[in-house]
Amino acid sequence: MILVTGCAGFIGSNFVHTWLSQHDEPVVNLDKLTYAGNLDNLSSLANDPRLVFVQGDIGDRALVDKLLADHQPRAILNFAAESHVDRSIHGPGDFIQTNVVGTFNLLESVRAYWSALPAAEQAAFRFLHVSTDEVYGTLAPQDPPFAETNPFEPNSPYAASKASSDHLVRAWHHTYGLPVLTTNCSNNYGPFHFPEKLIPLVILNALAGKPLPIYGDGQQVRDWLFVTDHCHAIARVLEAGRIGETYNIGGWNEKANLDVVNTICARLDQLRPRADGKPYAEQITFVKDRLGHDRRYAIDARKIERELGWRPKETFESGIEKTVQWYLDHPEWVQGVTSGEYRKWIGKQYG
Ligand code: NAD
Ligand code: DAU
Repeated sequence: MILVTGCAGFIGSNFVHTWLSQHDEPVVNLDKLTYAGNLDNLSSLANDPRLVFVQGDIGDRALVDKLLADHQPRAILNFAAESHVDRSIHGPGDFIQTNVVGTFNLLESVRAYWSALPAAEQAAFRFLHVSTDEVYGTLAPQDPPFAETNPFEPNSPYAASKASSDHLVRAWHHTYGLPVLTTNCSNNYGPFHFPEKLIPLVILNALAGKPLPIYGDGQQVRDWLFVTDHCHAIARVLEAGRIGETYNIGGWNEKANLDVVNTICARLDQLRPRADGKPYAEQITFVKDRLGHDRRYAIDARKIERELGWRPKETFESGIEKTVQWYLDHPEWVQGVTSGEYRKWIGKQYG
C-alpha cells in the first residue's frame, strides 16, 4: 500500500480519488485535519475498504513510526503542508512547524523504517515530496519559465518553508541514500479547492454578491494546472521517476489574475446569470496588494514530458468550465467549508 499525507486537503484528496479510480492498491491516509483538512472531500469513499484514515501530525514521530510499522507502505507521498501564502504572511510559525520541522520528523521516521527493510523492498521504496514552483522566486515578463536547474529564491514565508523542506528531502537522499522524488508544481485549481485561494474565492464571492478582491493591479501571472492533471503527473513520477530527481509540473497556461477573474465571471454569466442581468465582472474590486507579491510564475515542464511522457489533458478553458460547474453542483460542500473558522479568516484578510 501507499501512505498519503495531507489526504484531506485540496490536492491530497483529489490524488486519493484519482489513485483509487485507477488502482486497487490501498491507501493509508494521514492528516492532521487543520482548517484546510476536510473529510467531506473523501466522503464518497467512506465505505471503500481500500482506504484507511488516521488523524495525526506528520511531525509526530511515535505516531508515524507506528503507522509505518503497522502498514508497511511501499511508498510515501507527502502532500501535508500549510499552503496559503497570505496566511504565512500573517503568521509564519505554523509554516515553519509543519513544512520544515514536520517534514524533518517525517523524514527521520521514514529513514528508520526504510533502513530496516529487506534489500529488495528497500530498493523498491519511494518517498515522494510534493512541492511548489514558488521555491524558485519570481520571474520578469521576458524570463524563461522555471526549469529544475533554477536556483531557489523563495520570497514568502510559505515559499521559504517549502524550499527548506525540499532541501531536507534532497539531503536525506544524498546523505542517507533515501530513495526520494520531488515535484515542483504550479498553481492548481479544481474541485475541493478551499475558498481562501483566488479561483474558488472568486466563484463563491461572485455567487454571494460580494466583492471580487484583486490584489494590486491584477497583472500578476500564474501558470494554472487542473488538479487532476497534477495528480496524474505525481502518479507517473512515483511509477517511473528517477531517484533523487526533481520534476517541474505545469500547465503551459500563464494567465494574469485579472484575466482569470474575468474568465470566471464570463462562465458564471452563462451558467448562473445574476438576477439583475448585470455581469459578475461589476463585482471586481481592486484592493491592497499582497506583501512581497511575486509577479510571475511559469513552469518549464519539458523534463517530465521528455522523461515520463506526461502532459496536461485539460486546457484552462475546459478546466475552468469543470471547476465552475463543480462549485455550482456542490452547495452542501460549500456550506460546510464556509462556516466558522473560514469567516474569521475572511474578516482578518479582507476587513
Ligand atoms: P491544503 O492546504 O488544501 O491541504 C493541506 C492538507 O495538509 C490539509 O488537509 C491539512 O489538514 C494537512 N496538514 C497540514 N498540516 C499538517 C500536519 N502537520 N500533519 C498532517 N497533515 C497536515 O494544500 P494543497 O493545496 O492541497 O497543497 C498540498 C501540497 O501541494 C502542499 O505541500 C503544497 O505546498 C503543494 N502545492 C500546492 C499547490 C496549489 O496550487 N495548491 C501547487 C503546488 C504545490
Ligand atoms: O504556485 C503554486 C502555489 O499556488 C502553491 O504552492 C500554493 O500553495 C497555492 O496557494 C498557490 O499560491 P498563490 O499565492 O499563487 O495562490 P492564490 O490563489 O492565493 O493567489 C493566486 C494569485 O491571485 C496571486 O497572485 C494572488 C492573487 N489574489 C489572491 C487572492 C486570495 C488576489 O488577487 N486576490 C485574492 O483575494
